[in-house]
Amino acid sequence: MAESAPQSVLVTGGAGFIGSHTVVELLQAGHAVTIVDDLSNASPKVLDRIARIVGPEASARCTFHEVDITDEAALDAVFVEAEAKAAARARGGDESRPPFDAVIHFAGFKAVGESVQKPLEYYSNNLGGTLSLCRVMRAHDVCSIVFSSSSTVYGDPDEVPLTELSPKKMATNPYGWTKWMIEQILTDLAAADERWDVVLLRYFNPIGAHPSGLIGEDPKGIPNNLVPYVAQTAVGRRDAVHVFGDDYPTPDGTGIRDYIHVVDLARGHVAALEWMVGRHGVEIFNLGTGTGSSVLEVIRAFSEASGVDVPYVIEGRRAGDIARNFADASKAERELGWKAEFTLADMCRDSWNWQSKNPEGFE
Ligand code: WQD
Repeated sequence: MAESAPQSVLVTGGAGFIGSHTVVELLQAGHAVTIVDDLSNASPKVLDRIARIVGPEASARCTFHEVDITDEAALDAVFVEAEAKAAARARGGDESRPPFDAVIHFAGFKAVGESVQKPLEYYSNNLGGTLSLCRVMRAHDVCSIVFSSSSTVYGDPDEVPLTELSPKKMATNPYGWTKWMIEQILTDLAAADERWDVVLLRYFNPIGAHPSGLIGEDPKGIPNNLVPYVAQTAVGRRDAVHVFGDDYPTPDGTGIRDYIHVVDLARGHVAALEWMVGRHGVEIFNLGTGTGSSVLEVIRAFSEASGVDVPYVIEGRRAGDIARNFADASKAERELGWKAEFTLADMCRDSWNWQSKNPEGFE
């Protein structure tokens, strides 16, 4: 059950990869969840899969609304409905509660390459959606938010591991700029209005899948990210992995990243949500493992986990890529009591379990 009192949490983008895994952990920790998702990058089948994982009692505490958060009126209606439910509970003896105790904000476009081709859509959707969400939250006196940020705000770091005090640097693409700018929007909001309670979670590279194999990463079209591409190669949907450069200043020449299991990441959100109760202002946490792995190490680990000798070809560098980044995640351990537990082998095992059980993803 929850470390603290059960909360009512609105999760934007809760049908997505990280969102759905976080909803599972929230429900299993005893919280009530309202998902808003426009399903532009998620399958409605996720909702049934979540229910199968958590069981009937917990899934009774989960509500779904197909809503685009840039549609402010539709989002407001979700808050109004939640307010009515809270008032009914109050009449029933339960102390009166706000519509939500907190919001976890995942909703947004997230493909780096696509953002370079479609900057206007990325700024309109990611920034516009966030501004709409904050206006509706404020109108209903909901001022606690956990934001799904990214290590991409550190740009190309001068040194690693990265701590929360490492400088934010220029983003290298519009997707990264939206994360950078939303952090600034929430920081300015908290500075202007002491009611706001903001946690910025900077993810490193989320991979893997729920051990049940019922939910996992299901990117649309050709995967931008390494591990879904490796998984689709292993299951026979792709011919070979294209390794973007083996001439980086790293031990085997390929890019190094801090890969973190999506369930560890989800549990970090629950820890942050329970930690922030009663606080105000802005707090930043890196959510990573503190360990870097190269592209070739990931391919090798996935081959071992899947029993498939995953084929790959070495190609030139991808524009915008950096040589290495990985986290110093000690602040989250110290303050939140959270630490990543799954190894790279676990991540590959669970990613393979999901992909082999769902060769075509959810569809
Ligand atoms: C990892 C490594 C590539 C694909 C981005 C965003 C981050 C987050 C995760 C969204 C790099 C190499 C990749 C491939 C390859 N955003 N690679 N062949 O770029 O570290 O992070 O995605 O959720 O905010 O910045 O992740 O998985 O694309 O790349 O060789 O087909 O794998 O060069 O070294 P990245 P990635």
